[in-house]
Amino acid sequence: MYGQVLAGLLLASASVQAAQKPMQLALNYSGDAFFDLWNYKVGDDFLNWWGDPSNNGIVNFTDQAFARQQNLLFVNSVGNVIVKTDNFTDGTGNASFVRNSLQLLSKDPITPGTLMIMDAVHMPFGCAVWPAFWMNGGANWPSLGEIDIVENINLATTNAYNLHTANGCKASTDVAITGDLISTDCFNVTNHDQGCKVQDTTLSYGAGFAGNGGGAFAFLWDDEGMRIWFFPRPTIPADLSTASPNPDGWGTPTAFYPSSTCDTTKFFGPQTLILEINVCGNFAVEKFNQTCSAVAAQCTDVVPNPSAFDDAYFEIRYITVFSNSTVPKTNLTASGTSGSSTGTQSPGAQASTKSSGVSLNIPTSFSVLCGIAFLSLFFM
Ligand SMILES: *[C@@H]1O[C@H](CO)[C@@H](O)[C@H](O)[C@H]1NC(C)=O
Ligand SMILES: *[C@@H]1O[C@H](CO)[C@@H](O)[C@H](O)[C@H]1NC(C)=O
Ligand SMILES: *[C@@H]1O[C@H](CO)[C@@H](O)[C@H](O)[C@H]1NC(C)=O
Ligand SMILES: *[C@@H]1O[C@H](CO)[C@@H](O)[C@H](O)[C@H]1NC(C)=O
Ligand SMILES: *[C@@H]1O[C@H](CO)[C@@H](O)[C@H](O)[C@H]1NC(C)=O
Ligand SMILES: *[C@@H]1O[C@H](CO)[C@@H](O)[C@H](O)[C@H]1NC(C)=O
Ligand SMILES: *[C@@H]1O[C@H](CO)[C@@H](O)[C@H](O)[C@H]1NC(C)=O
Ligand SMILES: *[C@@H]1O[C@H](CO)[C@@H](O)[C@H](O)[C@H]1NC(C)=O
Repeated sequence: MYGQVLAGLLLASASVQAAQKPMQLALNYSGDAFFDLWNYKVGDDFLNWWGDPSNNGIVNFTDQAFARQQNLLFVNSVGNVIVKTDNFTDGTGNASFVRNSLQLLSKDPITPGTLMIMDAVHMPFGCAVWPAFWMNGGANWPSLGEIDIVENINLATTNAYNLHTANGCKASTDVAITGDLISTDCFNVTNHDQGCKVQDTTLSYGAGFAGNGGGAFAFLWDDEGMRIWFFPRPTIPADLSTASPNPDGWGTPTAFYPSSTCDTTKFFGPQTLILEINVCGNFAVEKFNQTCSAVAAQCTDVVPNPSAFDDAYFEIRYITVFSNSTVPKTNLTASGTSGSSTGTQSPGAQASTKSSGVSLNIPTSFSVLCGIAFLSLFFM
């Protein structure tokens, strides 16, 4: 009996293996290895990295060397990465003042068959502050799609998730999510580019996020679509920081864009991950009076005041990317992980298992069994 079950599992495992490569740790953005894994947008915010119109923030995005010299970019005493806006230059009385800040763009793309996790202790907030942790498919926006994992402005208290696409991609009203589905059409022309927005209801942004010790965001892109989970610090699953996180155990996602209403392979190209802090910019300017009318009449009034930017920083424990891609990742050895182009494992995990990441096999409901079966392939 046991033999038959095992044989069945092995067959199931073999076919899953043949169809889909498992996801394995591909990149680990953390500690000192964090900085070289990104390109840095330099200069103003009129055009983006690809030459499309951008957000008109009142910023000077700086290069890595300058940012490190100015302490806008460093690893703090507990080993977390800080990415921050200048909060020491006084621009009062300077009509041409723009505030130094950062926009980081990943050297490696995010492709279907990816699980991406960010664990942060603090994210930027404050009047005139617009943080984003998002992805863009590249030139001719939105033809290759945009995915917003973290984005809000000023003194908002909850995060929003969103997709922006060409015509034909929609969010579904038929899937279980814990966030509030605000709008279903991802097409950028509908409702002035409102997107297919899911509003979080938890301590996912701003002072509430920071006061709660932060939390973690996880983004899974597979054949079933795109899922996003947010976990406030006390509820982060124990496997999230390990070499083999398993979304099967994480419960209902905060946001879910199923393939049934959006063919993600059609509306999204390989995505560049972007981590940035904008200062004012269209979104924050437009919504300024919703949360900041007691602070100033308009967004631009705040920009010269350095202390208004004391909370304009990310404190990141790690960003990890698990991928089934066979394409070698950028400078893997520089990522702080040991491993090869076929996938990496944390040093701690190597002794105990060869199947790191196998639990991410698709279909996900079989994943644990497949993981066990796959392991047994090695030990028989
Ligand atoms: C803008 O950033 C660049 C580095 O990218 C730096 O050399 C320059 O001094 C900055 N401008 C100001 C006004 O600080
Ligand atoms: C005014 O701000 C601009 C841009 O931030 C900077 O280049 C310039 O040096 C500043 N002028 C003065 C007088 O500080
Ligand atoms: C990676 O995962 C994607 C999405 O599930 C799938 O379409 C693709 O075939 C997988 N690639 C490999 C090499 O397994
Ligand atoms: C939608 O995208 C198209 C194509 O880039 C652009 O021309 C248009 O201005 C966008 N509309 C909105 C409301 O973002
Ligand atoms: C808030 O700002 C928007 C646009 O910036 C404007 O249309 C609206 O009238 C303002 N509301 C109030 C109460 O000032
Ligand atoms: C800038 O903000 C940090 C906290 O993010 C704070 O520790 C520091 O004192 C601030 N710098 C100045 C010059 O106020
Ligand atoms: C890899 O790292 C080296 C040295 O840090 C750098 O010169 C090179 O540009 C990096 N390659 C890519 C593709 O980023
Ligand atoms: C990522 O690197 C950090 C060191 O910077 C390490 O502590 C952590 O275990 C690594 N994560 C994984 C999943 O290997």
